[in-house]
Amino acid sequence: MSTKHRSGDTPAADLEPEQMGASAKAPIRKEAKRALKAAVKRLQSTRVPEKGEALRLGVDLGTASIIVMAVDAAGMPVATELQTAQVARDGLVVDYIGAVDITRRLVHRLEERLGVELTTAAIAMPPGVNPAESSAHRHVVEASGLQVSAVLDEPTAAGTVLGISDGVVVDIGGGTTGLSVFQDQKVVYVADEPTGGTHVALVLMGRYGISFEQAEAMKTKASKADDVRVAVLPVMEKMASIVKRHIQGHQVGKIWLVGGTSELKGIEAVFADTLGIETVKPPHPMMVTPLGIALNSTPMLSGSLKAARNSAQSAKFHPHRNAS
Ligand SMILES: Nc1ncnc2c1ncn2[C@@H]1O[C@H](COP(=O)(O)OP(=O)(O)OP(=O)(O)O)[C@@H](O)[C@H]1O
Ligand SMILES: [Mg+2]
Repeated sequence: MSTKHRSGDTPAADLEPEQMGASAKAPIRKEAKRALKAAVKRLQSTRVPEKGEALRLGVDLGTASIIVMAVDAAGMPVATELQTAQVARDGLVVDYIGAVDITRRLVHRLEERLGVELTTAAIAMPPGVNPAESSAHRHVVEASGLQVSAVLDEPTAAGTVLGISDGVVVDIGGGTTGLSVFQDQKVVYVADEPTGGTHVALVLMGRYGISFEQAEAMKTKASKADDVRVAVLPVMEKMASIVKRHIQGHQVGKIWLVGGTSELKGIEAVFADTLGIETVKPPHPMMVTPLGIALNSTPMLSGSLKAARNSAQSAKFHPHRNAS
């Protein structure tokens, strides 16, 4: 399960600890933190690339959301698009038309924002799903107008960002808690069990008598984070106990939490208490896997970065604008 960075690039995760100076001993590399913060910032703002600049693109088709992210040669996100969608489950595409529609729209929006045509992307499959079984994911992305340059597994994508050699990546997304045990940069054991963000929402619905949509909104309100933490403590404990059961027999020195549900306030303390193992949560854990997917894509070379359709069309349909 090798990563596929190209020579000449220095993505955040490629930096050796020595290169990272004072941050070498920090649980999360400084460059990874910067890139994850940029991934969120770039939901709202765009860093328009220079003409001919190389970009890499990742498409994350998740159970709860689809995230498409473009990164520059240094591994910094330049634009991110995210839409909640229930089009995939357990590595299967359950709504093909919906998945294509949304992915195409997100890619198109990125093209408009960046002013370039995007041609290739990497994708990833959940832990335990053989990349050879990725044809549906691949077809969705191809039907959105992109070539698929790499298919990797989600834990490897996360490991790229966090620079993991040994430890356990726990990905808590919309539907499941997945875990991957790393030894010497290789994933040696994976498991995935129901209990994710949907279960968190169900508990909030019962506790507060609110709808699923209201529960989803409540999760993301900073002012409600403490109420949510108290209400869903048993769910977080269940997630930690799933991991505890699966890692028995493995020497584990560190746990890394990724995925949207890892955004829950205090979840890293619940894991550390339940497992008695150091547990690290990067900033914006929801962005870790999408960023890692983008980092593993083939750079789109300057020749393939054409002017966006809009600017090309306006030049074509209004030649007199340039005449004088
Ligand atoms: N701030 C937050 N606090 C708590 N939960 C959050 C927050 N932001 C997003 N979530 C939850 O994260 C989940 C989506 O996470 P993510 O995008 O990692 O899932 P996914 O990749 O689509 O799903 P899966 O990995 O199960 O296929 C949703 O359940 C969402 O409600
Ligand atoms: Mg996911």
